[in-house]
Amino acid sequence: MNKTEIYREAESRIAELVRDLEDPIAAMASAVAVLHDLLPAASWTGFYRVVAPELLRVGPYQGPVGCLEISFDRGVCGAAARLEQSQVVDDVDSFEGHIACDASARSEVVVPVFDSKGALVAVLDVDSHDTAAFDDIDRTELERIVRLLRPCFDRPSQA
Ligand code: SME
Repeated sequence: MNKTEIYREAESRIAELVRDLEDPIAAMASAVAVLHDLLPAASWTGFYRVVAPELLRVGPYQGPVGCLEISFDRGVCGAAARLEQSQVVDDVDSFEGHIACDASARSEVVVPVFDSKGALVAVLDVDSHDTAAFDDIDRTELERIVRLLRPCFDRPSQA
């Protein structure tokens, strides 16, 4: 499958998994499992949740241990949250303030996640051990996928 076909498959699987799911943790965990399984370049796939003004905390992820908290003024994730704009980084060593949870990560894409009211609730981060692994197809497709999760954030996680 080419990249677009992979994302069509991911979107189909995630849409089915999160349909009527009013639990953001379960929705994020399901999306991460599908994406990490299908994206050949992914070495780390996960969410960082907005837990306080200007603060992200790790959510469901797959890959090496990720750092627990990231303030909005740090890293690629902080930039995506602060600017509410996706970040595609071809070479993490050229991104000032990049946070290297995995020393082998070479490139990264981070997209902001919003709830149905348009409030920032998380960012989705995908890292790769390959340089320039992500492009505008990944950015637009991941933005499309996180839109599927919007309704899931409208209710607090179930106990
Ligand atoms: N590289 C990210 C930090 C998250 S770890 O890669 C999972 C950043 O610079 O924000």
